[in-house]
Amino acid sequence: MMTRREYLRLCAAAGVALAAHPGRLLAADGPRALITRMIPGTSEALPVVGLGSSASFSRLAGQGDTAGVREVLEALVEQGGTVFDTAPSYGAAEEVAAKIARDTGLKDKLFWATKVNVAGRGGGSADPAAARAQIEQSFDWLGKQAIDLIQVHNLGDVPTQLGLLKEYRKAGRVRYIGVTTTFPGQYGELERIMRDEPLDFIGVDYAIDHRVMEERIFPLAEDRGIGVLAYQPFGRTRLWQKVEGHALPDWAAEHDIASWGQFFLKFVVSHPAVTVATPATSRARHVIDNLGAATGRLPDQAVRRRMIEYIESL
Ligand SMILES: NC(=O)c1ccc[n+]([C@@H]2O[C@H](COP(=O)([O-])OP(=O)(O)OC[C@H]3O[C@@H](n4cnc5c(N)ncnc54)[C@H](OP(=O)(O)O)[C@@H]3O)[C@@H](O)[C@H]2O)c1
Repeated sequence: MMTRREYLRLCAAAGVALAAHPGRLLAADGPRALITRMIPGTSEALPVVGLGSSASFSRLAGQGDTAGVREVLEALVEQGGTVFDTAPSYGAAEEVAAKIARDTGLKDKLFWATKVNVAGRGGGSADPAAARAQIEQSFDWLGKQAIDLIQVHNLGDVPTQLGLLKEYRKAGRVRYIGVTTTFPGQYGELERIMRDEPLDFIGVDYAIDHRVMEERIFPLAEDRGIGVLAYQPFGRTRLWQKVEGHALPDWAAEHDIASWGQFFLKFVVSHPAVTVATPATSRARHVIDNLGAATGRLPDQAVRRRMIEYIESL
């Protein structure tokens, strides 16, 4: 749990005006106004930074630290964030987070994005009954009539599982559907699916040192009106290792960047094809830091090039 002293320091660093009552993460005037982006083809806007739940978040949930998970989810909402990306395969993450969201009422403030996959990665086939049962489990945990987004995880048996999601969307039980992959060997298949299927979203890995999405997938998403969830904006541990022991460049402050997390996230969300980046974290103070990337100025093309050059020079 964060101490009051840590909270004050973080909010000051993140530019948050403080609420009168201690111990809360609220800005004085309620949740921060964050930069938003439209879901293509809709009038629905989402804050450009959300929260992922594999990696360290899923470890926290797996340890049974419900207070810690609750603090992270509450920080997301109190900072003005909404998008929460999870999956049945992230250990205890989805179940623990969903129960907290249901019990606290946070479920009505979150844009809940989960996944389905009973086929494994790539070639396996999905038993439709098992896939349906997995989807129904997500509904049961969260206790909502409709889930915002369900995607086929890792392109597992897309004909069967996306077919099922289309039925759920038609029935109004799922608002948006999509597919995800972070495996380079699946990017070609992803393109084919983006051309052939009526997707609302894709979820793909995109980071300042992993920009292959800019070549074909992002232009295709823009052409086809498909929203993009940007996964692994820090490359999980890759970028943290890269900048270890290095200070931010002096010019970062000119772009309202106060931390390496904000540097990496501002790069990701300044690409126009990206709807929302979903960094994972197990710490409320990192949620505050990360959502700071959805405030202030975003880098333009010239600054984006400068950011890449700086990272490549380390
Ligand atoms: N195929 C798929 O569908 C797929 C694949 C990969 C990812 N995803 C989604 O995308 C999400 C993000 O990807 P990821 O979890 O692999 O990696 P990531 O978000 O790139 O990195 C997470 C790591 O960064 C650390 N971190 C977060 N904020 C920080 C901050 N402000 N300062 C310092 N460290 C910070 C976290 O540790 P702390 O806990 O210490 O903050 C954690 O170790 C996943 O959780 C998942 O929801 C989906």
